[in-house]
Amino acid sequence: MSGKLTGKVVLITGSSPNIGGGIAEGMADEGAAIVCVDVMPENAYQCAEYLKGRGADALGVVCDVTDETQVKSTLEQAQQKFGFVDVLVNNAVMFKQKGVLDMTLEEWERQTGIILSGSFLFTKYVASALIDQKRRGSIINIISTAGHQGQPGNVGYCTGKSGLLNFTRSVAMELAEYGIRVNSLTPTATALEEGFDRAAKWGRPKVDSVKFESVMDGFRKSIPMQQLPRPADYAKTAVFLASEDAAMLTGTDIKVDAGALARYWAWDPAVA
Ligand SMILES: NC(=O)c1ccc[n+]([C@@H]2O[C@H](COP(=O)([O-])OP(=O)(O)OC[C@H]3O[C@@H](n4cnc5c(N)ncnc54)[C@H](O)[C@@H]3O)[C@@H](O)[C@H]2O)c1
Repeated sequence: MSGKLTGKVVLITGSSPNIGGGIAEGMADEGAAIVCVDVMPENAYQCAEYLKGRGADALGVVCDVTDETQVKSTLEQAQQKFGFVDVLVNNAVMFKQKGVLDMTLEEWERQTGIILSGSFLFTKYVASALIDQKRRGSIINIISTAGHQGQPGNVGYCTGKSGLLNFTRSVAMELAEYGIRVNSLTPTATALEEGFDRAAKWGRPKVDSVKFESVMDGFRKSIPMQQLPRPADYAKTAVFLASEDAAMLTGTDIKVDAGALARYWAWDPAVA
């Protein structure tokens, strides 16, 4: 396939059928080879198989992003197959909605570890390899609107994601001299249908999104654009950030949030 990312090799962590799988698909459709990395074997392998079925080059690797030995081995497997990795998408996450009063230390360490230590390890080894190989690169960290705001009862997630936002800036400054750009992409509450459809295309039973309609309806009514972004919307921005079109962007965050974070706090579009 040829496109904006032809010749590039993308490693994405957390390649579920939802956002990671959607970004992987969007980047593959623009010509990139994709390394699908997930702790759940089916999410690594089914993502890679599906992309191959669409004509892309892909490799599935099972890896816990918090395990340094596994991270190094994952990068080695990617290099053996493709020679290099020049785009990294740190996307893996564990959702656990708990507050400071009810979250255990173990849960806090696991959740912030996946978000922060996982991104640290992949960034460290991918950037080191790029510097050794004298290649330029692009690193994209996936945040959340909850990383910009104080959501109650979601302390590990909010803290991890806001940490990842400033990790992005710090690493962007450190790696600028090597031609490695580091940016982030902020998604928000995401329409479910596309992820459920993708899971079905990967051979899984189709989930009926109607079951979640009342929750999603609440999000939809409160968001300024009155419709929720889909994984494919994030994929377009990830393609841009990885491509030469974004050659002068580093240390920045792009919000693909249908206006969520720009909203004046006292204005409720559901009431307007
Ligand atoms: N879904 C949303 O509405 C939403 C909103 C804002 C931001 N986001 C962000 O988008 C990204 C993707 O979200 P999603 O909804 O697709 O999540 P998801 O749960 O569908 O996918 C997360 C993936 O990460 C993998 N993972 C978890 N722990 C791992 C580990 N230790 N090592 C390797 N892989 C691991 C999981 O197995 C899973 O495949 C996340 O960074 C999330 O914070 C999502």
